[in-house]
Amino acid sequence: MQFFVDTANLDHIREAAELGILDGVTTNPSLMAREGIAGEKNILKHYRTICEIVGEGRDVSAEVIATDFKGIVEEGKRLAELHENIVVKVPMIREGVKAIAHLTETGIRTNCTLVFSAGQAILAAKAGATYLSPFIGRIDDIGWDGMALIREIVEIYNNTGYDTAILAASIRNPLHIIQAAKAGADVVTCPLSAILGLFSHPLTDIGLEKFLADYHKANPGA
Ligand code: E4P
Repeated sequence: MQFFVDTANLDHIREAAELGILDGVTTNPSLMAREGIAGEKNILKHYRTICEIVGEGRDVSAEVIATDFKGIVEEGKRLAELHENIVVKVPMIREGVKAIAHLTETGIRTNCTLVFSAGQAILAAKAGATYLSPFIGRIDDIGWDGMALIREIVEIYNNTGYDTAILAASIRNPLHIIQAAKAGADVVTCPLSAILGLFSHPLTDIGLEKFLADYHKANPGA
């Protein structure tokens, strides 16, 4: 399973990249706004900076703002031209699916976002989306089972042979990451805090403290 970090914060992206386990980045307009990135020139510059930080071969999802076919395709092409890492993120709407099919035909990779049902997952895969982003946390937020949707899509894609990668999104905590891996997601995209949460175990801390104490007892002054 690949690890993406879900942020537009450059410090978080650098920290995740330095861990040596980062495969990519996803952003969305809310995450860009949270960093105060506004205006087309600044937005494009920020995406380019993210691509340069993560380096070659690590996908960076950049979301379109347009919601009509022509607008999505034009914006998607501008984003894709920025850097070879860019994957164009397109919302799961009728015009979006049409645009995904068109962009796919022209060799531009896409991430279909705002996915909340198995039916939407089928449409995105039929259109040839590179990634599909079902939003786990937001489904959990309304009292439904986000991870059940991942399991359902994994089953459908296995049965049908669709090669769209399932990118579990709206991940909120380390448990979500573990559950997504068990459910068979191809990728998880999560805040840095959720990735760092995977490190924590009190027995690791206690064990390391004891190993070091025993070493220093046996090697006084070392
Ligand atoms: C996905 O690509 C989105 O950027 C993101 O995962 C949404 O997460 P949220 O529901 O925590 O905002």
